Order: sequence, then C-alpha cells, then structure tokens
Amino acid sequence: NAIDGQLLVIFGASGDLTERKLIPSLMNLFQGGHLPESFAVLGVSRSDMDDEAFRKKVVLDNPHIPETVGNHGHRKEFAKLLHYYDLGSYEEDYAGLNERIAELDNGIGSPGNMIFYLSVPPRIYETIASRLHDQGLSSEESGTRRLIVEKPFGYDLESARSLNKGLQRYFQESQIYRIDHYLGKETVQNLLVTRFSNSIFEPLWNRNYIRHVEITNAESVGVGKRGGYYDSAGALRDMFQNHLLQIISLVVMEPPIGPEAEAIRNEKVKALKSLRIMRDPETLYAHTIRGQYLAGEIDGEAVPGYREEAGVDPDSTTETYAALKFYVDNWRWAEVPFYVRTAKRMPTKVTEVVIHFKSPHHQIFRDIGMDSKDNKLIIRIQPNEGILIKFGVKVPGQGFQVERANLDFYYSDLADQNIMTAYERLLLDAMQGDATLYARADEVEAAWEFVDPILKYWSEAGDVVTYGYSAGVWGPKNADDLIEGAYGWRNPGAH
Ligand code: BG6
Repeated sequence: NAIDGQLLVIFGASGDLTERKLIPSLMNLFQGGHLPESFAVLGVSRSDMDDEAFRKKVVLDNPHIPETVGNHGHRKEFAKLLHYYDLGSYEEDYAGLNERIAELDNGIGSPGNMIFYLSVPPRIYETIASRLHDQGLSSEESGTRRLIVEKPFGYDLESARSLNKGLQRYFQESQIYRIDHYLGKETVQNLLVTRFSNSIFEPLWNRNYIRHVEITNAESVGVGKRGGYYDSAGALRDMFQNHLLQIISLVVMEPPIGPEAEAIRNEKVKALKSLRIMRDPETLYAHTIRGQYLAGEIDGEAVPGYREEAGVDPDSTTETYAALKFYVDNWRWAEVPFYVRTAKRMPTKVTEVVIHFKSPHHQIFRDIGMDSKDNKLIIRIQPNEGILIKFGVKVPGQGFQVERANLDFYYSDLADQNIMTAYERLLLDAMQGDATLYARADEVEAAWEFVDPILKYWSEAGDVVTYGYSAGVWGPKNADDLIEGAYGWRNPGAH
C-alpha cells in the first residue's frame, strides 16, 4: 500500500532505542521498499551533533545494523534521509525546531504529515506534547499528526491516568499511539488469527474444556546496563503490566465484530476489565510470588547476582521474577486459573502460552497410561515461533497403550520467512494510521488497575519476601507450588 509522505521526528535520537531498534528498522523498511516516497527523519535530542555526525552514529557506524543489511551505497542513500536538530533542552521554546521541521517538510514535499516519536523518559512526555501544541504542530489542519510514546506508560494507575490526561490536553486520543512492541510480534498477532479464523479452536476455548492457562515469559539475560531504570521498575512493571497483559487480553477476549482497530481494542479492554483484581492480603500472599536472581551460571558462564549489577541498590528487593495466579470473572472463563510468570536470568529465552485442556470426563484408558493432562495447545511466541498440539495416540500393537504425539507448525516452515520485526511493523502501521497494534488509553489504565494492588501489597505489606533464585534455574522453588496438583510449570523450550 502506498503511504503518504511522512516526516518522522524522533525525540531522544541520541539514545539507545534509536540506535538499537528505530533506525535499523527504518533501514530494513527502506531496503524492502516500504517507506513512502517522500520521507525524512529528524532526530532531536540534547547532544551537539550535525546531520553528518548523526548519520554516522546511527547508520554508517551503527553496530546494530548487520553488515549484511544494505551494501555501503544503499546505507549511504538511506543515511541521506536522516537529519538532526540539537534542541539544547526539552523545556525550551520550540520555535527553532518548528522552523527546521517546516524546512524539511517543504524539502521532501510531504503534505505536512508528521509523526513525533517520544523515545525519552516519560516525565517529559507532557512537556514535549505541550511545546508541539504551542507551535501548532498537533493540529491536523494541514496533514496528519501522530504522537508515538514508548513505555513505561506510567509508574502506577495514578501516574498513568495523569499521563493520559496530560497528553490528551494537547493531542486527540486518536492521534496518540502507545507502543507495545509485543503487539508487533507476528505470533502475538497470530493469536487473533488462530482463534478467530478457525472453527476448531474457538468451540473449546472456554471453561468447559480448558483446565488452566499457563504463560511463561523467560529471558536468559540479566538487567544489563539498565540497572538504574530496572531497579525502580521491577518485572511486574517492566514486562507484566504491558507485554504480558497484552498477550493475556488476546487469549481472554471475545471475538471482535470486525478487524478494525476500535472493534479489537474494545474487546481487549473488556477482557482486561474482567480480570479479577486481587485485593485481600490472603489472596495476594498466596497468589503472587516475586523473586530476584542471585549469582549463577547461564550457558556455562558465571554471571553476577542482581544486587551486584551496576545501578542496582545492593539491598534491593526489586523483583526480577514475578509469578501470578489469577481468575477471569466472565462467562467464558469463570474459575479457570491463569498462571503467568515473567523473569530474567532463566535457563533460556522463551515466551509461550500453554492452553491445558481438561481430562476427558470419563477416562477409559486411565489405568493403562493415558493421562490426558497431555492435551495441550502451545502458542510459541518466541523463539521457534509456532503452534504445537500435544495429544494421545495409541502405541501400535496389542492392548491400548497410549503415548503422546505432537502436531507442530513452525513459522520457519513457511516459504516466505521474511517476517518483519516488531518495530518495523509498528512504525509502518503508525505511518498508515492503523492503531490496532497500539494500546488505547483505557486499555493501559485497565492493565494498571489489575497491577496496582499487587505492587502496593508488595511494597507496603511487611511480610512479602523476595525469594532468591540462582541465575540459570527456573525461578524460586516457592513458585513451583503455585500450580496445584500434578501439573507444575511446563519446562518451556522442551517438547
Ligand atoms: C522490554 C523490557 O520492554 O522488553 C526489557 O523493558 C525486556 O526488560 C524486553 O528485556 C524483552 O523484549 P523481547 O522482544 O526480547 O522479548
């Protein structure tokens, strides 16, 4: 689809995200011929650089753009689309910036369409939005104006609400694109397609057939260089409030009436609002577990404990592991437990949703080995993206020995493996004005409503322990008991 001309203005252009994700994604889009014909990027930040230095930093010398992407000529051609403006301070009057924007806009002959991407700390989102508004840059009288904001979107429910209010003072909700890069992942989107374009899954997708739902999001990395940020956030804010609740809403939601952004987002909000909020201390104590990694080994290499990481308080109780059990109070899911965990320094990197089906109500093969807890549907979000079904089959020969068989589909089996990365997809969607894969204000607030009481309980109740676990194991022992019965957590990555 042809996209109208665009000027993409990136605030925080000298930062990590621009170099690691935004520019490499744009470079790929350029290579694939997906960018609009009239297109330019204006990097804005407080570093003293000119266009040439910026191009060198984020394109020509950028270690995050693999050698294989674009021969040198191609890179140079792409780099020419990039410009830089030194703002001095985000508080300033933006008249100079406005002039530069107008100049570029005329230069590329774009019909005034602009995207403002805020890759800066959230506390200055509102300032930037207000300055852009003062300069008339939020008005859509001459071209589309969109504002993309990065996470974290708020620190708790109250700050998220006030951030929404603050931004909506200067931009319409329809102009605000809250990015959640998990929604850009092909397999997260595939959750919608698997559920609503097949007739074989949806009839089973409810409390009558599903025993429980298990979601694991594991990373083998630690906090790396982000200790300072992470120590004041923790796993629940960093991963659960946004990425995992997005996945959960897609698992839980009712069928939307159509594929339009608003139809899908309406159902997601309904799903989030149906999560049973944990309020009483007994439930919070029994159904939420937090842990923190200690020194250990990942792939045979010794790694430090969380409290030894740069930027982390040596007495920190911030969680790098969070596991929750909760219920969804609606017709479809009544009394089906959901078990969700997210953590750093796990043995491997994997994200998957496991739908565990109930045992057949009359089990004629029980005594001879068929254990129908093996009926699982696994949606593997990353890596080895795909869908796996586990079911029982008869072992050939005498009698009725039952064995587990797999029906597996992997994305890598598809002929066209040129899957766009999350940021490529999301940037393109924003240019097209498609907000389906972006979070709406009420969605973000509904997610915080669920998370807020847990965070408050963790920080305020005196008896909440942050359990230690050695780097390279599947989290603290106490979390094993969260899933009752003989089930336990699935060891993801294993078949
Ligand atoms: C980010 C978190 O949003 O997602 C990081 O801030 C985390 O802490 C990252 O490492 C994980 O993303 P992905 O795409 O690698 O699963």
